[in-house]
This record gives sequence, structure tokens and C-alpha cells, in this order.
Amino acid sequence: MRVAAIVQNKGGVGKTTITKILAEYFAREGWRVLAIDLDAQCNLSRRFVCMEYDRSDPDGVLPPTHPDFDEKENSQWSGRSSSADIYFDGECYPYPTSWETLLALPGHGPKLRQIELVRADEVRSSVHNRLREFLSLGEVQEAFDLVLVDTAPAKGPLTVSAVRAATDLIIPTTLEPQPVEGLYGMLQLWRREQNTRDPARPLRIAAIQPNMVRQGVALHEGTLESLQRDEALASMLSPVILHQRVAFAETDHPEAKPTSLFDLASRNPARREVISFCQHIESQWRK
Ligand SMILES: Nc1ncnc2c1ncn2[C@@H]1O[C@H](COP(=O)(O)OP(=O)(O)OP(=O)(O)O)[C@@H](O)[C@H]1O
Ligand SMILES: [Mg+2]
Repeated sequence: MRVAAIVQNKGGVGKTTITKILAEYFAREGWRVLAIDLDAQCNLSRRFVCMEYDRSDPDGVLPPTHPDFDEKENSQWSGRSSSADIYFDGECYPYPTSWETLLALPGHGPKLRQIELVRADEVRSSVHNRLREFLSLGEVQEAFDLVLVDTAPAKGPLTVSAVRAATDLIIPTTLEPQPVEGLYGMLQLWRREQNTRDPARPLRIAAIQPNMVRQGVALHEGTLESLQRDEALASMLSPVILHQRVAFAETDHPEAKPTSLFDLASRNPARREVISFCQHIESQWRK
């Protein structure tokens, strides 16, 4: 089972968009995919599950009642299941989505924020290793071919747990100074994790993925050239460039028509780019 964590501590660079694209692409290819949302903003969850809102907490996004919940049979369970339950030792039931082979484990805003606040001396035992332990369970290993983990724009305990559980990292970046600084920060986190790994189980970088690139913008072109010249990361840099295109935002809404970039006309440039990107990732995983 492959576990890809989509990480970058700079916000708004396309982590959730890229997680969503990969989840849809691989599910369409027939892979059994689990998409996990570890970001308290729950943006990925909203894409796949009809989330609810906690009226007492303006940022409180909650998963809905699980479709398999039966109040009489499951009196010990609230009926909601979320990625936070992995860390709280609760019951954890992924939700079905519109794609038959794609299941989603949505976030739970208040609970995920609570996990990020865990005391430094407790963090190692209660957070850092928890996702890896959960994904190592025989029933999880047998049920999925690919697990995709969307993370918050931070290097906090939940992101560390995603890196620790991963077989692969995908690092999206826009071609501007702050996100590139974030990229180098993520590479440091990768190296630190790599040093703790058994060489038989290395953590690979499947792609550093340029996103929201604008043609003719000197800053973007210059930044791309300097990343290509950097020998330490050139081999990890995706050859596919995702440009700034309105179709990405247009298909972001759960009720958007079409609902997916993959349903756009076959000559649509955004569709062609995301297919090339996913094929690049697939080719990395076939090596
Ligand atoms: N290539 C693109 N062209 C145009 N818009 C894009 C592109 N990629 C992403 N977007 C849009 O940019 C916004 C931010 O993207 P996204 O939510 O994926 O970033 P993020 O890294 O997950 O953000 P956060 O750090 O807050 O979690 C979204 O509105 C998304 O639709
Ligand atoms: Mg996001």
C-alpha cells in the first residue's frame, strides 16, 4: 500500500487541489483509494463529503452522520467518524464518495485543532506515530492500494505524523519567494525523517510540483530556472507545470458542473495538464 502525504507549510499553494486530483484520477483508474484530511479547515473533506457546521464554533466543520450508523446498534458511537479519531483511539469509518473505489476520512475541525495543541512531551507518543500505526493495521493494508493525506499549512504534529506514515511526499509550490522557502523547509523535514528510516523503507519525494504558474511572468520563469539549476532537487522536480487556470477553482465546489477536472472537454488545457501530472506520479510509482 502506498501512502502519499501532500505537504507544504506555505498556505494556498494547491495541496488540497492536488490531493483531490490524485484521488479522483487513481479512483477512476480502479485503484482502491483512501483520502484522509488532516487539516482542521476540512477543505478536502468538503469536496467528497457533505460536511456540517458546529453553530457554537465559527470554525467548527464536522463530518455528517455516517451512512452506516444505526443508533440502536451503535449506542456507544456518536455516528460521526473523522481522521481525528485515529489520534483519539475512536472508531474510524471512512465515508463513501461519488467514486466507487474512493473512500474519504474527513476532518473534524475542533478535534484536529485540539490535537495540534497537545503538549510537546506527549506529542511523540500520542500524535507522531499514530497515523503510521493506524495505516499498518492489516485490515487497512488489505482494503486500499493508495492512501492520500492532505495536510495543513504547518509543520505541526499532524503534518509530522503524515510524513512519518508516508512512503512518498508530494510538495506543491508556487514559484514565489515564500512558498519556495516553505519548500526548502519541507525538504529539511524530509531529510530529518529519512535519517530515522530503515534504508529498506525510504521516504521518497514523488514530486516537487510547480503550481499556479503564469506564463510570461518573469518571477515565475526565473524561480523555475533556479529550481532546475539546484542539483539537490532538480531530479525531484516534476517535468509537468500546472498553470494558473480558472478551471481549477471552478471545479472546486462540490456542486460544480462539471464536478471534476477530468470531466472537462478532452482538449481543455487544465484537464490535459492534470492528466500529465497524474501520469507522471503513476510513472514514478511504477519504477
Ligand atoms: N493551478 C491552479 N490554477 C488556479 N487556481 C488554483 C490552482 N491550483 C489551486 N487553485 C486554487 O487556489 C486556491 C488554493 O488552493 P488549495 O486550497 O488547493 O491550496 P492549499 O495549499 O491546500 O491551501 P491551504 O494551505 O489553505 O490548505 C483554491 O481556491 C484552488 O481552487
Ligand atoms: Mg488545503
